[in-house]
Amino acid sequence: MVDELLKYLQRAHARTRAPANDCGLMKTFNLEKLVRPNIWALKPYSSARDEFVIEDDTATQNALTFLDANENPLGSVGNAPNNRYPDPYQRHLKQALSTVKQVAEERIFLGNGSDEAVDLLFRVFCIPGQDKILITPPTYGMYQVSADINHVGVDKVLLNEDFSLPTEKVLEVAQNNDYKMIFLCNPNNPTGNAIAPQEAFEKILNAYQGIVVIDEAYIDFAAFPSMTGLLDRYPNLVILQTFSKAWGLANLRLGMAFASPEIIGLLNKVKPPYNINGLTQELGLKALEHLDQKNEFVAEIHRQRAWLYAQLPQFDFIQKIYPSETNFILFKTTQPKRLYDYLVQHQVIVRNRSTQPLCEGCLRISVGTETENQRLVALMKSFDG
Ligand SMILES: Cc1ncc(COP(=O)(O)O)c(C=O)c1O
Repeated sequence: MVDELLKYLQRAHARTRAPANDCGLMKTFNLEKLVRPNIWALKPYSSARDEFVIEDDTATQNALTFLDANENPLGSVGNAPNNRYPDPYQRHLKQALSTVKQVAEERIFLGNGSDEAVDLLFRVFCIPGQDKILITPPTYGMYQVSADINHVGVDKVLLNEDFSLPTEKVLEVAQNNDYKMIFLCNPNNPTGNAIAPQEAFEKILNAYQGIVVIDEAYIDFAAFPSMTGLLDRYPNLVILQTFSKAWGLANLRLGMAFASPEIIGLLNKVKPPYNINGLTQELGLKALEHLDQKNEFVAEIHRQRAWLYAQLPQFDFIQKIYPSETNFILFKTTQPKRLYDYLVQHQVIVRNRSTQPLCEGCLRISVGTETENQRLVALMKSFDG
């Protein structure tokens, strides 16, 4: 028994996190050059669960007495047992996710929402007050906010009028600047469309040696596949996804980043030690056993989205309805403020996106349930546009 325990301790110790810069890198891509020097050199905090990894085997677990993490040995206030710290690397969840997403476990990072991954990418790559990133508005607002929080400059190349990506322009601007990262959202929020075909993204990934972040928060609703299949080929690619949309788990705050094992190692170095709580890990794992339910949700959202597309053209005050590969629809109206206020007065809350570049007069509606959508359309019928 003592021998077995000793062996177990050695195995557990050997599995503590390896520094990211121990890993081999592709020749054409210099990760070290992109990473903030203090982060590259950082010796990460080593938590109790880093130094002693708990094996899955319950017999071994039961033989152990945990006096290493200053937890409460008596139990938890309330009923559920929450007195032990969770797995800092969410191994079970990543194993299951790896099968569902067909992405190797060492290429997966889990964050407190994908927003956490965005923030950590800034902290890994961008020197505050010095570095810059590129975004393509109108797009998801957190790239700018995270940049501002991290005191990182933001350059912008607007999407085309039809919200497609001006690929050549992005390449030209990126090649003349030293951006650490380019953020591209596909399908895009708030416009809802696929901004470019996969070849355009590959062109950027090939030509540009900084980090290309492709945010696929809405990918489950799209008619095209995720770009996770490109991860093996592009060491500068980071893909973000989330459990907040199609999986219906926004309350859990669980987001995914897929990238090279080296980039994942860097995110692990800077993350707070226990960034995904144990309940979220458990519920995320349960959700992955119900892929069929996620697919049913997506099918129903598609049906409801199609119904809204059939209804919205009847309104004269709607000038343009944009195509959507997501669970929301953007439309341009002659009366954005009046329509927005009218809907709020009737307890229906949509998003006024009029202040976004290229989105003048635009409201964004999330696809609701059948009843909610019928209510929205009935209200619009009585709107004095
Ligand atoms: C494009 C995009 N990325 C990321 C997020 C945030 O995802 P999470 O809930 O995982 O932080 C959103 C939320 O609306 C989004 O629209």
